[in-house]
Amino acid sequence: MEQRKSASADDLTTLFSDVRGLSEALAAPLSDADATVQSMDDASPAKWHLAHTTWFFETFILRDHVPGYRLHDPRFPFLFNSYYEAEGRRHARGRRGMVTRPTLAEVLDYRAAVNAAVVAALPTLADDVRDLVTLGCHHEQQHQELLITDILHLFSENPLEPAIWPAAPKVPVAMPAAIGWIDQDEQVVEIGHDGRGFAFDCEGPRHRSLLAPHAIADRTVTNGEWQQFIAEGGYREPRWWLSDGWAWVQRERIEAPLYWEQRDGVWTRFGLDGRRPVDPAAPVTHVSFYEADAYASWAGARLPTEAEWENAAARHDAHGGNQLDAAGPVEPRPAAGGPAFFGDVWEWTGSAYRPYPGFAPADGAVGEYNGKFMNGQFVLRGGSCATPRGHARACYRNFFYPHQRWQFTGVRLAQDR
Ligand code: AVJ
Ligand code: FE
Repeated sequence: MEQRKSASADDLTTLFSDVRGLSEALAAPLSDADATVQSMDDASPAKWHLAHTTWFFETFILRDHVPGYRLHDPRFPFLFNSYYEAEGRRHARGRRGMVTRPTLAEVLDYRAAVNAAVVAALPTLADDVRDLVTLGCHHEQQHQELLITDILHLFSENPLEPAIWPAAPKVPVAMPAAIGWIDQDEQVVEIGHDGRGFAFDCEGPRHRSLLAPHAIADRTVTNGEWQQFIAEGGYREPRWWLSDGWAWVQRERIEAPLYWEQRDGVWTRFGLDGRRPVDPAAPVTHVSFYEADAYASWAGARLPTEAEWENAAARHDAHGGNQLDAAGPVEPRPAAGGPAFFGDVWEWTGSAYRPYPGFAPADGAVGEYNGKFMNGQFVLRGGSCATPRGHARACYRNFFYPHQRWQFTGVRLAQDR
């Protein structure tokens, strides 16, 4: 991973303990049953997230770099290796919900044992191994967001529509002002990781990119605006849709964002606080790339490129906005006013998730982390209400397939000028 300077053992111990603690806090409201079931192939059980992130540290730190370390349970690598071919055979992704044993309590024991071994080893680790601990912490933060969105998907399948966390207190807010447009002349910009602090390998090398004259919206699209798209037949009119998107809408009978349902003529959404009326002032979320692109066409606009997004966002605080602070209510909230680029929802860009010029994956098994997924996916930018605060940055490249929408995904518009 691209890093100029390795974190000190003290700083890393703090980061490691904070990150490991947050995962457990997020899982605290869950029963063993809640944490074991898998609601779809794309989602994993919470118990699997807790164990897989532990396997990552156990494998790439303790097994590889701590002399004499003995695996907590030699059967676990088969269960908790996600996709690393270099680490050997593994359990089928779509069968993760069948693993009722180890129990949740046993997985928490696994976590405690690995935590103690990592904390004990940290002061002895060389710089390049400390960098792997840093990678493991950022890896676990990615899984914290997945744990939240996967639990949301699982609970949405329960007819009782249970709330996982209590609703955030509702403060009355004015509807956000009309979208303001940030004009940009034709220019060459530099994008990608500049070497300061941590970044995943796919965020570099930093390189130049030519921007066409354009304008980028100062906020994301709201639920109220999305309801207008629905009311005006947006989901029924093929001319707004990419061909693959239109096939998806018809095949899956898509009529609204994921988790939306009309009840007695009112649009409601399912969230971590149960089913509630859609808030027209909040950013729309749980839309696919196909929906984002169709909405942009309908609105006479387009999705921004990732370079346009990064250029506009680089002036803003990546740790600000509505992001995950602790276990608790997580939902996109109405904008406070002024340009906002971080938090609430990940924003689909029109850019394919492909290597930047000169990209080379890291050596060894961790080289499989990002590079081998660089086909058929689109880049998302900004971070969401479920992204742990401190994880996002302007050069961060998230990625998903164009039909996926169980993450907190939304839309920012751009226009050619
Ligand atoms: C960047 C969110 C697409 O879900 O596989 C987790 C994150 N990478 N473990 C994914 C990830 C390795 C990744 N996404
Ligand atoms: Fe992972």
